[in-house]
Amino acid sequence: MTSVPSPSTIGSKLTLESPPPSNFGAHLPIAAEGSPQAFGVRFLEGTNMDADVAESKWRPLDVEDRFYEFLAGGCRATMLPAMIDLGLDRMLYERGSMSAPEIVAALALEPTRGKKWVLLLKSIDLLVVAQEGDDTSGPVRYTNGPLPSAMATPGTSNAYFYREFLRYWRVATSYDIVKTLRGAPILHPVRYPPVAWDDTVLLHEWMRSGALQTLKAVRRHFDFSEVRTMLDVGGGDATMACKLASELAELQVTVFNVPQPAYMARQNISTQGLVERVKVVEGDFRKDPLPEGFELVLYSRVLADWPPDICRMLLEKAHNSLLPGGRVMIAEPLRDQNPNLAIAWEHSYLPYDDFGAWVYKPLADYVTMLTEIGFTDIISYPRDEATIHSVIIARKPEAPLAEV
Ligand SMILES: C[S@@+](CC[C@H](N)C(=O)[O-])C[C@H]1O[C@@H](n2cnc3c(N)ncnc32)[C@H](O)[C@@H]1O
Repeated sequence: MTSVPSPSTIGSKLTLESPPPSNFGAHLPIAAEGSPQAFGVRFLEGTNMDADVAESKWRPLDVEDRFYEFLAGGCRATMLPAMIDLGLDRMLYERGSMSAPEIVAALALEPTRGKKWVLLLKSIDLLVVAQEGDDTSGPVRYTNGPLPSAMATPGTSNAYFYREFLRYWRVATSYDIVKTLRGAPILHPVRYPPVAWDDTVLLHEWMRSGALQTLKAVRRHFDFSEVRTMLDVGGGDATMACKLASELAELQVTVFNVPQPAYMARQNISTQGLVERVKVVEGDFRKDPLPEGFELVLYSRVLADWPPDICRMLLEKAHNSLLPGGRVMIAEPLRDQNPNLAIAWEHSYLPYDDFGAWVYKPLADYVTMLTEIGFTDIISYPRDEATIHSVIIARKPEAPLAEV
């Protein structure tokens, strides 16, 4: 992922290829309000719309609201990077609050555009009005909204991850979408699993930044002291495995991963003095069998990188690798509970062919797969205030289902 082009090249490309603003709207048909040609009216009559959509009984203004909601999403996606690129988030983090003229002057903005920009940022909550006592005599002062505040606060995993993902997302979405969809070659494809060593390191930096938080969320729903053997499939650089092994004296963990992260995991395990308790098995789960004989098989943030057919195969492999009565656990953001996350990530995967379709799945998809494979006692814990991750746990029956 480090080999992708730098985002600084993106803006100029887009500007050059965009039509001049004066052309904007020139070819759009304008329907008079109330006219039978108006889109919304046809919509309601259901004469020219897909039946499912028409049946949803959206009123014309719902459609119009939705239209602007789409465009406002584009505004948000453009204004956040502009704020970060200009360093306004960090400036406000350091200074606390600033008025619009101070922001304009400090960032050397063209005054009229700068003022409009500040108000736009406020209207999308990237800036909020600073509450500073009762003195309302001076100009309004602004401070970071919650998102830029999180991104500007040094040392937090959110600050690191949001900045990193934004950088990656901007590169992924800078490709010409029509040409991409028609099969244009992608100059700097992101490979998955990573092939270049630097990309493996970067992926695992991303993962390490959130691994212990994720594990904390999982542990609220599962007591790992109930099991003595566990297989952590795609277990990253063994951050989670080492944490669990260091706290649970009875637990033996095996981390399964492709060779580069497996090497990182071995280094990590050795540094933490856990070589007797945490083992590493190298392999590619797309073609290799998983090691067998475990009470628990964990897929933490793994299945959400793969399309349903591969996930089904991986859950079948988990079933095979579990002892009778053993459990499989899936921890990841589910599509139905994180719709915007799913859209943002899958949008970023469009140009990169190593990623399949529909990698984020709703809970129901996993329940169906687990049931069809023969798991029972399926329990799911939805995402909550503390985490985007849901946890699904299912059991392999003590005896094959037919004999139960
Ligand atoms: C998104 S990371 C999650 C890491 C860890 N489970 C966690 O939650 O922090 C996905 C992991 O799956 C591993 N992986 C990807 N493709 C794999 C494959 N074909 N075989 C084995 N492991 C794979 C990656 O190397 C990486 O460690």
